[in-house]
Amino acid sequence: MKIHKTKNTGQISVFDVAKIRNDFPILNQKVYGKPLVYFDNGATTQKPKIVIDTMSKLFSEHNSNVHRGIHYLSGQMTDMYELARTKVQNYLNARHNHEIIFTYGTTASINTVAYSFGEAYVKENDEIIVSEMEHHSNIVPWQIMCTRKNAKLRVIPFNDKGELLLNEYKKLINSRTKLVAVVHVSNSLGTINPVKEITAIAHENNIPVLIDGTQAIQHQKIDVQDMDCDFYAFSGHKIYGPTGIGVLYGKERWLNEMPPYQSGGDMIDRVTFEHTSYADLPFKFEAGTPNYIGAIGLGVAMDYLTGIGLDNIQNYEKKLLDYGTANLTTLNGLKLYGTAKNKICLFSFLLNNVHPYDTGTMLDKMGVAVRTGHHCTQPLWEHYKTEGSVRASLVFYNTLEEIDFLCEALKKIQKMFI
Ligand code: ALA
Repeated sequence: MKIHKTKNTGQISVFDVAKIRNDFPILNQKVYGKPLVYFDNGATTQKPKIVIDTMSKLFSEHNSNVHRGIHYLSGQMTDMYELARTKVQNYLNARHNHEIIFTYGTTASINTVAYSFGEAYVKENDEIIVSEMEHHSNIVPWQIMCTRKNAKLRVIPFNDKGELLLNEYKKLINSRTKLVAVVHVSNSLGTINPVKEITAIAHENNIPVLIDGTQAIQHQKIDVQDMDCDFYAFSGHKIYGPTGIGVLYGKERWLNEMPPYQSGGDMIDRVTFEHTSYADLPFKFEAGTPNYIGAIGLGVAMDYLTGIGLDNIQNYEKKLLDYGTANLTTLNGLKLYGTAKNKICLFSFLLNNVHPYDTGTMLDKMGVAVRTGHHCTQPLWEHYKTEGSVRASLVFYNTLEEIDFLCEALKKIQKMFI
């Protein structure tokens, strides 16, 4: 294990981040002649070599469509695809393998539930509860469904630290509430929401719960049985896997009762011009050729994380969070958004009165990749009466030294603009 020395606090970490960084080829490069500091992990995470190499080998040597051919390659690919489903099941501790639906990402997963659950259960004047800190992908699908069904969207507010107000949430629940859809970790503030408690409160009232796990799955162990949520959605590319693959976990009971969302090949049992019967779970919700190589890549990424250990990742990222918070808050004029007691290593901030786009552009020229703007959470920024922020989102391949570099870069920007 390597000890990392930092300018401000000396020896504080025993996580072998140098070794881990070697697994991610993209990190070892310069942009504009400066070493890349990749702090845009909330947008997408980088891929370990094992994921890249496995997918390349699959395309080179094994590619064939799944569930269709009786030939060797198709059978082999089908087995690998279904094994990936089992890996996701184990990763989430889902009760059944067929409760794992492969989608193209969180957006597709939430749209599936919004459409299918809406068709099955939502009627005029019913209500869906979301929160004020949702990503647009956990607002707009519900809004569209509410418009279709003449139902209403209700919103759980948060306090200025970025913590959901659970008492207000309880007040929103009534006999018309049909579903609660809440983000596990805010992509703009970093808040880790108490999803187990949120779910328990809804269940006391027999209301199912969807958790958007997009920004949680890569940072902590997820156990859907312990959480007891009814649906859990996430994207592969946020958890070191490929783009274009995502997961919808749903309890068997709901998935069996809900009608299909998209239709076509692979989701049918028998088709005649008069009538179509549907395939059993999970295929009922997987119309068309799935992203089978993406699903296998996701399984490999999960194996990789399990190999490192989710606890190790979480402990190291907490050190990054504490170090970053301590150092960024010493910068006069830096306003941090998202100061919840429970949060991931994400720093959303504004520097004096510098526009986030200008701060982000200057950081980019120094080699630091951050996201700027509203981060697809416009209602969240209305809470703070501002348009957005600069967001540095860190993961376990980032370092304390990179945080030092960010702080120095921000001081230079202050000198230029203020
Ligand atoms: N949802 C992604 C983000 O927060 C794209 O950046």
